[in-house]
Amino acid sequence: MIFRFSDVRYRDIIEIDELTINKGVTILLGPSGGGKTTLLRMLNKMISPTKGQIFFMGESLAKIESVQLRRKVMMLSQNPVVFPGTVRDNLAIAFEFQDKIKPDDDALDDMLSRIQLNKKLDDGVINLSGGEKQRLALGRLLLLEPEVYLFDEPSSSLDDDTEDLIIRMLSMHVEKQGQSIVMVTHSKRIAEKYADVILEISEGKVLRSVKNERDN
Ligand SMILES: Nc1ncnc2c1ncn2[C@@H]1O[C@H](COP(=O)(O)OP(=O)(O)O)[C@@H](O)[C@H]1O
Ligand SMILES: [Mg+2]
Repeated sequence: MIFRFSDVRYRDIIEIDELTINKGVTILLGPSGGGKTTLLRMLNKMISPTKGQIFFMGESLAKIESVQLRRKVMMLSQNPVVFPGTVRDNLAIAFEFQDKIKPDDDALDDMLSRIQLNKKLDDGVINLSGGEKQRLALGRLLLLEPEVYLFDEPSSSLDDDTEDLIIRMLSMHVEKQGQSIVMVTHSKRIAEKYADVILEISEGKVLRSVKNERDN
């Protein structure tokens, strides 16, 4: 079990009495305004419940320092920050703030192919499209190897084929590394193809939690 919700409210937006999220790929589906982003933001303490508790690996989020938590639970934002400089700078920048060893160019090149980014490490990032910037931020995240990835409609700016390749790569990666994904998508097709569990979220509640047999 990765996360457990106990009697959680967020203002009048979220109302979840009991919910467990297990290791693997969990996908949130549901209508716009249903509370999916709000739920995701609670998982890495961008916001905190106004009532009740969320536990991460058995420990209350209220007791875990945000910085500490976000080394293990990382969110890919919908409008990721891209720093002035090269593709290389952008992939490796997070390592300036961590005690981990900086990946070499071979590892960075390998990451570019995994995120389907057809650029050179020395290329500038100014002219990247929205989708390219998002994949670059994804590559940055993958290099850091968190325990849990939070994705909020990561593929909204990708074409269908690239979307499929990326989500496939991600689901294989986390399975191999024993990590987890909690992801919001509007794509029922993606959910049925890659989720271990599908949560249907509407009006701030979990309407249904369905174990999914992947069909890929
Ligand atoms: N900070 C906030 N303050 C007040 N209302 C908010 C805030 N964030 C989101 N909401 C509202 O909460 C509801 C759920 O929003 P959201 O979690 O973004 O839904 P979804 O991601 O499923 O589209 C919406 O009605 C939205 O307008
Ligand atoms: Mg949303």
